[in-house]
Amino acid sequence: MQRGIDFLGCDTAILCGAMSWVSERNLVSAISNAGGFGVIACGAMTPELLDAEIAATKSLTDKPFGVNLITMHPMLFDLIAVCKKYNVSHVVLAGGIPPKGSVEAIKEFGAKVIVFAPTLALAKKLLRSGGDALVIEGMEAGGHIGPVATSVLAQEFLPALAEDNIVFVAGGIGRGEAIAGYLEMGAVGVQLGTRFACAAESIAHPDFKKAFFRAKARDAEASVQVDPRLPVIPVRALKNKGTEEFTAKQIEVAGMLDRDEVDMGEAQLQIEHFWAGALRRAVIDGDVENGSLMAGQSVGMVTSEEPVADIITQLMEQCEHALAAR
Ligand SMILES: Cc1cc2nc3c(=O)[nH]c(=O)nc-3n(C[C@H](O)[C@H](O)[C@H](O)COP(=O)(O)O)c2cc1C
Repeated sequence: MQRGIDFLGCDTAILCGAMSWVSERNLVSAISNAGGFGVIACGAMTPELLDAEIAATKSLTDKPFGVNLITMHPMLFDLIAVCKKYNVSHVVLAGGIPPKGSVEAIKEFGAKVIVFAPTLALAKKLLRSGGDALVIEGMEAGGHIGPVATSVLAQEFLPALAEDNIVFVAGGIGRGEAIAGYLEMGAVGVQLGTRFACAAESIAHPDFKKAFFRAKARDAEASVQVDPRLPVIPVRALKNKGTEEFTAKQIEVAGMLDRDEVDMGEAQLQIEHFWAGALRRAVIDGDVENGSLMAGQSVGMVTSEEPVADIITQLMEQCEHALAAR
């Protein structure tokens, strides 16, 4: 983990993955103040909103934290400029292949770039072309997911990359014993989302948190793709009425494609806007029926509201105990 700690500049290489609406100033600063690494979820924010969020987070912590930018955001380069203004130390590029010039624009002001990659070939390419660290994220995770399990990705990516590169593992991690396993395989740290979403410092609505506390692993289901022409990235969330609404939304957007009312890029953007709106309804308004309850399969291990510092301490104790017993 020391390599991960040195890379992030914090005490424990446990990142709290960016969660739209959840990973804002309060949770991010709490994570970083507790020795982990918080990441602001920019999501669909405007540059002005991101500016305010970074400033507010800086007022709550003097520890390092990152900013997660979605590569398909139409104002990506303006958002990068905001990160530059605040000298953000780490920028995470999520949601697709970084567009031309984006990695360079981030490195130009001295920040480290953290990337995601669904295949080993792409991971190698991104690390060769400027990515400083990689997160591999399996389909157990909450939110947007790929098709392969974390355990399989770890076996495929870590032996090939871990010696010469900084690699974090994400997806389905709920306890420290699992962290120990990935560290032994060469990961320098881990990223968790679901386990932190309901922390005491998280501003998620009490009803959102209650839904997490009740849920079991099997309740966190991946969305289904309705139309083969409309490539929709699956999203893992607790099953509710909102899940069905997503199916209806896909049918609506597929119809718009048929009638040439939108092109594929616009169609995909509409789908993403749907998620952003639905997640807001659940996280902020507490509408757990119609909103999106994005959650990973580790949700069954989230049973009560705990301070971030306690969660990190438990994870590290479990991890140390597992490693000491070997
Ligand atoms: C409610 C929720 C919202 C999320 N939103 C985002 C996001 O906006 N951007 C992103 O890159 N990842 C997002 N994620 C993924 C997390 O950053 C993290 O990688 C993931 O939760 C790790 O897997 P785990 O849930 O099994 O711990 C989200 C996850 C959850 C649970």
